[in-house]
Amino acid sequence: MKILITGSNGLLGQKLLYKLRIDDSVDLVATSKGENRVTVRDGYAYHSLDITNKAALEELISTQKPDVVINTAAMTNVDLCEDKKESCDVLNVDAVQYLANACARIDAQLIHISTDFIFDGEDGPYTEEDMPNPLSYYGLSKLKSEQLLQVHSVKWTILRTIIVFGVGENLSKGNIVLWAKEALAKGDSLNIIDDQFRAPTLAEDLADICILAAKKKALGIFNASGKDIMSIYEIVERVAKYYGNSTNNLNKISTATLNQKAVRPPKTGFILDKSINELGYRPHSFEECLAIMDEQLKTIH
Ligand SMILES: NC(=O)c1ccc[n+]([C@@H]2O[C@H](COP(=O)([O-])OP(=O)(O)OC[C@H]3O[C@@H](n4cnc5c(N)ncnc54)[C@H](OP(=O)(O)O)[C@@H]3O)[C@@H](O)[C@H]2O)c1
Repeated sequence: MKILITGSNGLLGQKLLYKLRIDDSVDLVATSKGENRVTVRDGYAYHSLDITNKAALEELISTQKPDVVINTAAMTNVDLCEDKKESCDVLNVDAVQYLANACARIDAQLIHISTDFIFDGEDGPYTEEDMPNPLSYYGLSKLKSEQLLQVHSVKWTILRTIIVFGVGENLSKGNIVLWAKEALAKGDSLNIIDDQFRAPTLAEDLADICILAAKKKALGIFNASGKDIMSIYEIVERVAKYYGNSTNNLNKISTATLNQKAVRPPKTGFILDKSINELGYRPHSFEECLAIMDEQLKTIH
């Protein structure tokens, strides 16, 4: 099976790359915008690909002829999407259309990653059938990408995820668990919101469900988050407890005090029954995720 990944320099992209490069049943083509920033170079081919470049995308997919394309590339900064709506649409919507068209031409499966931000967070956790109602432009752009796939002839799979975290190399952005670990170790006083609830997702778990969906040729929508739902405050508190840090410097604050550009849904989280039963998805508990990350950090530093 030939698998092509977009956004392989990103957190999910890197996890997919590391898992698939050693999978003998997979011929792997990694692509991302610009140079390859992953240091390990064997077990896969790398091609620079900006997925907003329609001609380059069509050329690469028609020559590579993958069986599956996993699209991890996106504009993921929620506040930036609010400010730069056009750029957000080009990457999060238009490029998905180009990918769908190119995949349909060679009968490839397109696995696309979406988000809990398509929901308003009034009645989470959500099933795959619940009604979207995005509050932010990022959420709207991801919903538009879902909707264009749902009426497309391509073999599509949508995996919806929530706060992706993990250890990567040369990443262009951080994630909450790594940030919390470092800030707690410094003993900083931290103000953390306790009125938003999420199910944070280890990047390895998300990579696993992408691979399950590819190997099982599973089509449709699947929830693909972590299994523990908690407030943002509790995420940081559980990181503190895991590392034996004091929680005395942790202060609870409300979302309203932050004045963020994009509105966030108060309570999301996903019901994972469909992914567990149909795909065999087995996400780790939050503390198991921390242990996996900790092992990786020990080998890096
Ligand atoms: N992170 C989260 O908390 C979260 C939550 C819900 C859903 N998701 C979804 O999960 C997916 C993966 O997220 P992630 O955290 O792995 O994202 P990420 O770390 O930001 O990775 C995205 C990668 O795509 C690359 N990229 C950006 N523009 C591109 C373009 N035009 N063409 C090709 N590649 C491009 C980025 O390159 P550079 O590194 O050079 O910028 C980056 O390496 C995304 O679809 C995201 O919307 C993420």
